[in-house]
Amino acid sequence: MQPLLTIKNLSIQFKNEGPATTVVKNSNIEILPGEIVAIVGESGSGKSVTALSLLQLLPSSAVINGEILFTENNTATVDLLKLSGENLRQIRGSAISMIFQEPMTSLNPVFTCGRQIMETIQLHQKVPAKIAKQKTIELFEKVKLPDPSSILNRYPHELSGGQKQRVMIAMAMSCNPSLLIADEPTTALDVTVQKTILELIKELQFNMGVILITHDFGVVADIADKIVVMYKGEIVEQGTAKNILQHPQHAYTRALLNCRPALHPKGMRLPVLSDFIENGKTQALHNKPQIQSPISNDAVLEVQNLKVYFPLKKSFFSKNQQFFKAVDDVTFEVKKGETVGLVGESGCGKTTLGRTILHLIKASSGKILLNNKDITRLNDNAFRPIRKNLQIVFQDPYGSLNPRLTIGDAIVEPLKIHGILSNNAQRKERVTELLKKLICYPNILTGIPTSLVVASVSVFVLPVP
Ligand SMILES: Nc1ncnc2c1ncn2[C@@H]1O[C@H](COP(=O)(O)OP(=O)(O)O)[C@@H](O)[C@H]1O
Ligand SMILES: [Mg+2]
Repeated sequence: MQPLLTIKNLSIQFKNEGPATTVVKNSNIEILPGEIVAIVGESGSGKSVTALSLLQLLPSSAVINGEILFTENNTATVDLLKLSGENLRQIRGSAISMIFQEPMTSLNPVFTCGRQIMETIQLHQKVPAKIAKQKTIELFEKVKLPDPSSILNRYPHELSGGQKQRVMIAMAMSCNPSLLIADEPTTALDVTVQKTILELIKELQFNMGVILITHDFGVVADIADKIVVMYKGEIVEQGTAKNILQHPQHAYTRALLNCRPALHPKGMRLPVLSDFIENGKTQALHNKPQIQSPISNDAVLEVQNLKVYFPLKKSFFSKNQQFFKAVDDVTFEVKKGETVGLVGESGCGKTTLGRTILHLIKASSGKILLNNKDITRLNDNAFRPIRKNLQIVFQDPYGSLNPRLTIGDAIVEPLKIHGILSNNAQRKERVTELLKKLICYPNILTGIPTSLVVASVSVFVLPVP
């Protein structure tokens, strides 16, 4: 069979200030029509950059070498890297479409969901508005959105994360692409929603080739035909999903598979890649003994009979105030060194509980104790010095980091606010040191690790009481 896409000797460099950095080296990938190819690898390994290069979406500082040959339905083969102007526009969003990680930022907030999809259909298929609308409703039905005609008139912020990603999938599917690129399409979603979205992609796939970028091997095992493993910009191994999962050859692939947390007993530090490999290619798999993280009997956090009620709008005639019970009589504790998982489907109160512990929402009743000190009803001033002992990592790194600050400045900020260390030079030095500890290369930050780094740096820097 003629491959749909052939990536040949692809290399990508970035030329910013300083020496050029190579982020993709000599990649070769082939995708057949109807095939789901998963690209896996840790953050920063070059997955997204590879995907973006297919549609020439990289900034002008990128220098790209190699060929990306695309052959749609036995038509003439084109090199995507050589396309320009109208020819490129024809391919983008029509023959090849993309779904991104973050549905919140991919949809335009000022237009209704319906309008955004109708626009794409009208643009590429040159049909009148009425037909575009009909097609949009059909697409919403296909992606199993509830009440499609009402979603047509709703704005993105009126939908849940999972629903928004369904709208994005509908948009991507709207022009029957022959290749779909999905860059971590489920990372920002609830675990319960993740699976249904992936099943949906698989179900709608028909004869379409799919490049699925992910760092989650669970996802891969479920739906991929082929797996490509990337490490520091290089493809270290590729093959059928079954082969790679059952007989991984490369030390890095084995290390990745070994890092899946579910395999490990509780109460131990989670394994990281450096437990298994040292130098990517050369180092054989070795197992360092797991470090036991001691769980003490002292509670760090105690939540007792916590209730968070939100008043509902009172109707003119009703005498009693009604409440929405977001958190209703919750009691639990977290011991030193212990990790407590809080699970439940969307809307069950997880986030409200977290925000209440952090003093971002007022508790209606009950108690919150941090290191045996009751912090439930402290006023904002009294709570401020305590805030540095409670840190949160939000779901969405893009929304959590100020885009105007460099990563360094973003991390220095909490240190300044809490008056830690005496001057900025010292703080900067501390941040660099911590960045080195937390990730292998401080200048390389992509996606989720960035916000994790920011939060964990605060945790590491701030003195534990
Ligand atoms: N615009 C850019 N300028 C310079 N370096 C970049 C740019 N975009 C990405 N990079 C670097 O390219 C490498 C690969 O990033 P990426 O493809 O986003 O990784 P991931 O595998 O997590 O998707 C990283 O080292 C990243 O810092
Ligand atoms: Mg990425």
